[in-house]
Amino acid sequence: MQRDLLVIGATGKTGGYTTELLLEHGHRVRALVRRIDGRTERLTALGADVVEGDVQDLGSLAQATKGVDALYFTYPIQLGLMDATANMAQAAEENGVRAIVNMSQISARRNTASNAARQHWIAERILDHSPVAVTHIRPTFFSEWLINMWDGSGMLRLPFADGRHAPIAASDQARVIAAILADPVPHAGRTYPLYGAVELNHYEIAEEMSRALERDVTYVPIELDEFQQILEKRGTSPHMIQHLLAVSIDYRNGVFSGMNDLVKKIGGVDPLDVQGFVTQNRSFYDRYSV
Ligand SMILES: NC(=O)c1ccc[n+]([C@@H]2O[C@H](COP(=O)([O-])OP(=O)(O)OC[C@H]3O[C@@H](n4cnc5c(N)ncnc54)[C@H](OP(=O)(O)O)[C@@H]3O)[C@@H](O)[C@H]2O)c1
Repeated sequence: MQRDLLVIGATGKTGGYTTELLLEHGHRVRALVRRIDGRTERLTALGADVVEGDVQDLGSLAQATKGVDALYFTYPIQLGLMDATANMAQAAEENGVRAIVNMSQISARRNTASNAARQHWIAERILDHSPVAVTHIRPTFFSEWLINMWDGSGMLRLPFADGRHAPIAASDQARVIAAILADPVPHAGRTYPLYGAVELNHYEIAEEMSRALERDVTYVPIELDEFQQILEKRGTSPHMIQHLLAVSIDYRNGVFSGMNDLVKKIGGVDPLDVQGFVTQNRSFYDRYSV
């Protein structure tokens, strides 16, 4: 059945893939973007109804949710998640939206040192009080992390000791999100931890990357103060740095580890493994190599 769906964060990683998939499946998709620019032209060309708006502005959300059956909500790790969530929930309720898929994260819990992870947990609780049916997704670290942190040197300098996770690609998360939006009822009230194909530590991740890139990639475990310096040099926001330092400790303690079959069961595909993801993004790695 064709549905009227809204994707918030449509210029982002999970929102972008979700928009594409929903359009491919014949749904009518409205894409909320902060501004019309080169990135949004592609969404329009694919058939999305691109509208400008801001999740910090209730009025624009009220407009964007008109006539919508279900929506996907994601917000970056930035200040303002609480306001954004409350605005979105209010607009969805006012306009009779029947289902929300809410991006959270695996480390979301009440007693966490990360402000961003705690805010995700509170955002989940706010949405649980909404009359709209909600499904929370809680992915582990994205595979895209292996792009974000790539400095071209072939060394992964990260503070993760020998902790483990199964990196999950945004495109695989989109499969799950799109399937829930298309048929939300069985998923109402559920919280889904999402994982990629294989759980690995960063020594093993580096080996997989080496195979895919046919060059040496080495994991260099570092301490938190060095990680903080790297992030500050990159201009990372204080909110994100606070989050990443806190979840690095979580990571060492196994909070990001685990596996399940939800990508296959709900999304209908086998998730990408590290080799598959890096091979897909080979041109990026070839471009940024020193
Ligand atoms: N990365 C990880 O390893 C990881 C792991 C688990 C969970 N998560 C969760 O994933 C979420 C991020 O998802 P993502 O990576 O798909 O997103 P993303 O690529 O960071 O994109 C964020 C999207 O939100 C839009 N946006 C930002 N501020 C907005 C505003 N005020 N109003 C409307 N739109 C706004 C951005 O628009 P512009 O393009 O205009 O900026 C962009 O489209 C975070 O909540 C994070 O906690 C991430």
